[in-house]
Amino acid sequence: MFHRLVPTMKTTTCATAVACGILTVAARAPEKYDAVVVGGGPAGLVMASRLSENPAFRVLVLENGPETYENINVTTPAWEVRLPGTQFSWNFTTVPQPALDGRAIPLEQGNGWGGGSAINYMAYCRGSRSVFDEWASISGIDELRWDKLLPYFRRSAQLTVPDDRDYEQIINSTVFGPDNVHVSYESSTQYYPIDRAFRDVWAASGAHDADLNAGDGIGMILGGPSAVNPSNGTRSYALPAYGWKMAGRPNAKMLHGARAIKVNFEGTRVVGVDYVDLACGQTHTVVAPEVVVSAGAINTPRLLLLSGVGPKEHLAEVGVPVVVDSPDVGARFKDHPIVAMMFNASPQFVTARAFGDPATLAPLLAEYRANGTGPLSVPGGSSFATERVPDAVLDSFGVDVTFQKQLPQDRPHLLYQYVSGPMLAAPPGANAVSSFVALVQPEQAGTVQLQTADWRDAPRVGARYFGSAGDAALVRYGYRKLLAMMRSAAVDAVSAGELYPDYDVTSEAAVRGAIANATITFHHPASTCSLGHVLDQRFRVRGVQGLRVVDSSAIPVLPTCHLQASVYALAEYAATVLAADFW
Ligand SMILES: Cc1cc2nc3c(=O)[nH]c(=O)nc-3n(C[C@H](O)[C@H](O)[C@H](O)COP(=O)(O)OP(=O)(O)OC[C@H]3O[C@@H](n4cnc5c(N)ncnc54)[C@H](O)[C@@H]3O)c2cc1C
Ligand SMILES: *[C@@H]1O[C@H](CO)[C@@H](O)[C@H](O)[C@H]1NC(C)=O
Ligand SMILES: *[C@@H]1O[C@H](CO)[C@@H](O)[C@H](O)[C@H]1NC(C)=O
Ligand SMILES: *[C@@H]1O[C@H](CO)[C@@H](O)[C@H](O)[C@H]1NC(C)=O
Ligand SMILES: *[C@@H]1O[C@H](CO)[C@@H](O)[C@H](O)[C@H]1NC(C)=O
Ligand SMILES: *[C@@H]1O[C@H](CO)[C@@H](O)[C@H](O)[C@H]1NC(C)=O
Ligand SMILES: *[C@@H]1O[C@H](CO)[C@@H](O)[C@H](O)[C@H]1NC(C)=O
Repeated sequence: MFHRLVPTMKTTTCATAVACGILTVAARAPEKYDAVVVGGGPAGLVMASRLSENPAFRVLVLENGPETYENINVTTPAWEVRLPGTQFSWNFTTVPQPALDGRAIPLEQGNGWGGGSAINYMAYCRGSRSVFDEWASISGIDELRWDKLLPYFRRSAQLTVPDDRDYEQIINSTVFGPDNVHVSYESSTQYYPIDRAFRDVWAASGAHDADLNAGDGIGMILGGPSAVNPSNGTRSYALPAYGWKMAGRPNAKMLHGARAIKVNFEGTRVVGVDYVDLACGQTHTVVAPEVVVSAGAINTPRLLLLSGVGPKEHLAEVGVPVVVDSPDVGARFKDHPIVAMMFNASPQFVTARAFGDPATLAPLLAEYRANGTGPLSVPGGSSFATERVPDAVLDSFGVDVTFQKQLPQDRPHLLYQYVSGPMLAAPPGANAVSSFVALVQPEQAGTVQLQTADWRDAPRVGARYFGSAGDAALVRYGYRKLLAMMRSAAVDAVSAGELYPDYDVTSEAAVRGAIANATITFHHPASTCSLGHVLDQRFRVRGVQGLRVVDSSAIPVLPTCHLQASVYALAEYAATVLAADFW
């Protein structure tokens, strides 16, 4: 079933026969496909693998980044921390953030087969049902309602619950299916003993156990689940889950090291794509009547803008000829910003520090290689809790909290999570662990725009983290609460001292400063080419023919927890729509 060598998966075209620079674009007969999918992340690989199930339908997938599967840093869950900033990452940074004393925040995205699913932290969570009901009302697609999207969630993921869990988690196994992404809970020997202290402190603050994959968004979870294949403790991501299914099909071709730089039009009708073979810099033109852009929430609007699909004033400003004025391309950017704190775990707790010392790493590696278990087989931070802040507390902020209060009652505002290693710079040798608070229903939207018309130049990621008074007040409340929880007796019992910010950070001004220094991102950007705004009910970009967008950028409203589960389900649904239209 699983192939080590994948016959039709090619590095690049020029790595085979054609010497770079000898043949020009014009000298090569353009390749023809029925559809080109741009981007080999979760959405792109679902689309291409589903569309190529029809053997008469020829699909090309273009992926900018490299092969990922053979890389041990991708496949080993605990090595997730090694991936941002490498060849597997787009090294985006936001513009300076006014609410964060002008700091610019790194916002890496996945680059390579599997996209973000190849470098993410593997948490698997669907969250509040009302989010999907809102997707349906914004998009006009009734099938996106939670009850109707559930079959697509099921289609995309299978669940394993180990039988040696000593913790009674509420788990509704009917919301998973038999195939594709492996989602697994950790056994009691796998989750870190220190997780218990976090669970206790969240419970003491009022959180209750819940299954956050079956429609509920408010509650807490210990030890998973994560996108990990329990048979050998490896990352379960879009390449093994979907990509390989098409790898042997003669009608499907997967090219990596291939950057789409422009969707080509005749008038307003798509005729194909230009891509650059990154190994040699040569540009190729592919002919296809349908292009599906699945390049992620930053690169999808970027490619549309480079192709002349976007707000006409912005396109004029950077000098891109307008194909269609589509004012919402790149607008409505939302992300989950997070603020971290760190403390020194008592020495008896195994943390990521163990991985840095050959003597403590050796037995862990031996266990992982022999049995696929132990600390290397888990993401190391799969326990979390969410909170809906009561109206009375929101009112006490003394700012406009209309948005936060009118969110449906099943939605949390904040998510608190634990991580078994440092999330901020830690002193050498520290046994650092982290906890953070995330704003999961931000009010303030941002933008993605071009800086120039050159495909090489980084886009301008205009995040506006904590950009409304309500968002800013909410995160201050959440960070204060996080600090109070982490300074309580239950955590004191497992702590050898706070590393960040510091026990004396208690005043309003000091907390604001600590937040400004310790804000990072959950890497969940979305909504930059949203359904209901840029896209119609069949995922078509309005105003042109032959162009669709299916990925995190199409999502109308951020889910209340981690993003990938929703991307897989949305893509599974979109695949049925596109297959009906294309085949
Ligand atoms: C560091 C990190 C941690 C995360 N942690 C979690 C987590 O724990 N749980 C969770 O649920 N979610 C997590 N996420 C988010 C999740 O991975 C993303 O939401 C998801 O991958 C989005 O899928 P996508 O298909 O929309 O886009 P992406 O995953 O971004 O895929 C887009 C693909 O398109 C390719 N591409 C882009 N432009 C071009 C182009 N011009 N030509 C060709 N190819 C192109 C990219 O290289 C990429 O492979 C994390 C993400 C990151 C980056
Ligand atoms: C994995 O990451 C480590 C540490 O960053 C690096 O030294 C090593 O070269 C990487 N391995 C591969 C196969 O990329
Ligand atoms: C991000 O930076 C790394 C390290 O410099 C580099 O290898 C990688 O190619 C960069 N990513 C992209 C998409 O340019
Ligand atoms: C499991 O989840 C489904 C979907 O939300 C729901 O219909 C069902 O009632 C749940 N079952 C239990 C036992 O909670
Ligand atoms: C893990 O197991 C799966 C089968 O479930 C297999 O396809 C994959 O190659 C294995 N991964 C590694 C890195 O051994
Ligand atoms: C692998 O698991 C077996 C059975 O539980 C155990 O006896 C063995 O010690 C483990 N191997 C390592 C290297 O941990
Ligand atoms: C935040 O960073 C600034 C500049 O590095 C520093 O002066 C300040 O003390 C930091 N504040 C906290 C709370 O860490």
